[in-house]
Amino acid sequence: MNNLTVTLLGVTFENPLMPASGPIVGTLDNLRFFNDSKTGAVVTKTISVEGAQVAKPCIVASKHTVYNTELWSEKPLTEWTDHILPAFMALKKKPLLVSLGYTAADADILVPRLDEFADFFEVSTHYGKDELGPLVSSIVRHTDKPLFIKLSPHVTDYLGFIEEAVKFGAKGVVAVNSVGPGTVVDLKRRAVTLGLEGGKSWISGPAIKPIALNRVMNIRKNFPSLPIIATGGVASAEDVLEFILAGADLVQMLSAALINGRGVYDRIVDDLPRAMARYDIESIESLRLTPLNPLPQGPGGHPLVNHETCTQCLICVKVCPEEAMSLQSVITCDTTRCMQCGLCQSRCPVDAIEGVL
Ligand SMILES: Cc1cc2nc3c(=O)[nH]c(=O)nc-3n(C[C@H](O)[C@H](O)[C@H](O)COP(=O)(O)O)c2cc1C
Repeated sequence: MNNLTVTLLGVTFENPLMPASGPIVGTLDNLRFFNDSKTGAVVTKTISVEGAQVAKPCIVASKHTVYNTELWSEKPLTEWTDHILPAFMALKKKPLLVSLGYTAADADILVPRLDEFADFFEVSTHYGKDELGPLVSSIVRHTDKPLFIKLSPHVTDYLGFIEEAVKFGAKGVVAVNSVGPGTVVDLKRRAVTLGLEGGKSWISGPAIKPIALNRVMNIRKNFPSLPIIATGGVASAEDVLEFILAGADLVQMLSAALINGRGVYDRIVDDLPRAMARYDIESIESLRLTPLNPLPQGPGGHPLVNHETCTQCLICVKVCPEEAMSLQSVITCDTTRCMQCGLCQSRCPVDAIEGVL
């Protein structure tokens, strides 16, 4: 049996997957659901002093992308501290990450009231680097629980941003928040489907996974021992493993559940041992310590087609930018045209092409 457990900053997680902060962790019923699910931890919706006023509609999704204009929790702090969190604590079976926002003054009110419930704190950092020191200082002044700063993908100097947060007492980073702004259009009504300030919305889900992976990989390279929680585009057990290989200790997911329903959490946890066996991974912690090679390791040659497994579906023929692939009696590559790009191999649905990647 592969070992899924992760121990981070003295806390043990049965497996690395947990929800990311958002609408599916904003009520007591939501927290109960995750408490009883197979996830390794529970996270809260971002809590602030006052409840947010959110313009509706605020969430739409397509197959690979979620667009949202949500803010923090619509419930005020008192509802969390007097009702939701005490009731959750009576049942709590796994670590709880409490998400809060946004300013140093908010933190002075929030952290003393939330401290008894949290195993970790996570803070959304929407303000610039100048606000970061005071914000982190006010949180760590009121708690011994480890603080993770949640990184917006729009921070360009994110390594400097993290260095600053660590200097003031942050213990880890959550990377990343939603990307954007983007726009989602309703062609029928000739209008945006949802949007703030003339059509802006925030983008998440599988479409943003490469951005999140890049951040996680570079943060790990520059901060070899900093705890990292990856977020952004996770939708399968393989995605979880890719983020761990890129350097994440734990992994959060939200949009895949907004696109396909929350059963995806237990499905992924069930799939993890099978996916680990397929890729010869002994444990999550051993994968986390395996260096991700930054250089491609494939042969870099022309595509070699396995005619036994090729179904002649012609995808490689259709997608080849140089029109080098064609169907003769079998699929054939014209090596005088082929630019050795790898696209055909990556798009072959039956893995019948090798030799490039
Ligand atoms: C509808 C919605 C609401 C969200 N609300 C919050 C929030 O309250 N606090 C926060 O830190 N992130 C929030 N996020 C960002 C997610 O936690 C996560 O970082 C992002 O969606 C990327 O992960 P995913 O692709 O798995 O969804 C929200 C995302 C969505 C889609």
